[in-house]
Amino acid sequence: MRILLTGTQGQLGTDLLPLLKQQGEVVGVSRAQCDLSSVDAIKKLVAEVRPSVIVNPAAYTAVNEAEVQRDLAYAINSTAAGVMAEEARKLGAMFIHYSTDYVFDGNKVGAYTESDEPQPLNVYGASKLAGERAIASTGGRYLILRTSWVYGANGSNFLLTIRRLARERKELRVVDDQVGAPTSTLQLAWATARLVKQLSGKIEDVFPSGIYHATAGDSTTWCGFARAIVEALRDQDTFKVEQILGISSSEYPTPARRPLNSVLCNNKFENTFGFKLHGWQAGLAEVVHEIRLRESQS
Ligand SMILES: NC(=O)c1ccc[n+]([C@@H]2O[C@H](COP(=O)([O-])OP(=O)(O)OC[C@H]3O[C@@H](n4cnc5c(N)ncnc54)[C@H](OP(=O)(O)O)[C@@H]3O)[C@@H](O)[C@H]2O)c1
Repeated sequence: MRILLTGTQGQLGTDLLPLLKQQGEVVGVSRAQCDLSSVDAIKKLVAEVRPSVIVNPAAYTAVNEAEVQRDLAYAINSTAAGVMAEEARKLGAMFIHYSTDYVFDGNKVGAYTESDEPQPLNVYGASKLAGERAIASTGGRYLILRTSWVYGANGSNFLLTIRRLARERKELRVVDDQVGAPTSTLQLAWATARLVKQLSGKIEDVFPSGIYHATAGDSTTWCGFARAIVEALRDQDTFKVEQILGISSSEYPTPARRPLNSVLCNNKFENTFGFKLHGWQAGLAEVVHEIRLRESQS
């Protein structure tokens, strides 16, 4: 199986690369090798590689900056995704893409399902929703994995920010009224590789194209996640932090509004593919283990 992977320098792309290599021949591209803001560059790349699967973790993910870089956010998250899906359709290839809990406004009581109506609060969420629709409109074979609060051992993310702040400050103030499922790149990469493995040999009607919610199990707040991160890392880190205080979203204003409820229901994914991602706490333990491993090797 020939797999084209984008975003190889990103959090998720970095962890996808070694796992996808176990499933087939992978051509991985970073922004330097293919700038996804160029439609021609995407078409040329897909024509050259002729993959049977495209995995696309590349995205414009700067949620606050997207408020002022609307065109760029849409170019990467919508136009590029649609073009890749269309080029995949022409080859009969499967297109695997990632979307976000931020397509919802967070007002629902309970977990969001795939049939709930999206209503993004910010430009990033709107651009990702436009991407979902562009992909679906091609009529090709696709899986869109909507996930949330993504973090891992590399890149720039909440876990690594909290770790840095815990070393620098005695007190942290963290938003405590947004609820979601912190989902690790290790779990997402593992799940994607498992889907790719299932793909070989399966026909479309056992593997229906569509949107699937794919997050870690259970939920917490950003403050709950921060406390768990500090606890998990404390034994081997030199932390100054003594107190982690919960604050409301209104006490931490940001250019982009965030949904208060980001919890997604994963039943469709689990029922269709027959497996699920770990709970967020087990996912965190796995990432902490990976961080220690990488640090002991460097
Ligand atoms: N992060 C989250 O909390 C979160 C939550 C829900 C869903 N998601 C979705 O999950 C997926 C993976 O997210 P992530 O956190 O791994 O993202 P990430 O770490 O920000 O990585 C995104 C990658 O896309 C690349 N990229 C951006 N613009 C590009 C361009 N013009 N041409 C080529 N490549 C470009 C970036 O390249 P550079 O390295 O050169 O910048 C980066 O390697 C995305 O679809 C994201 O929308 C993320």
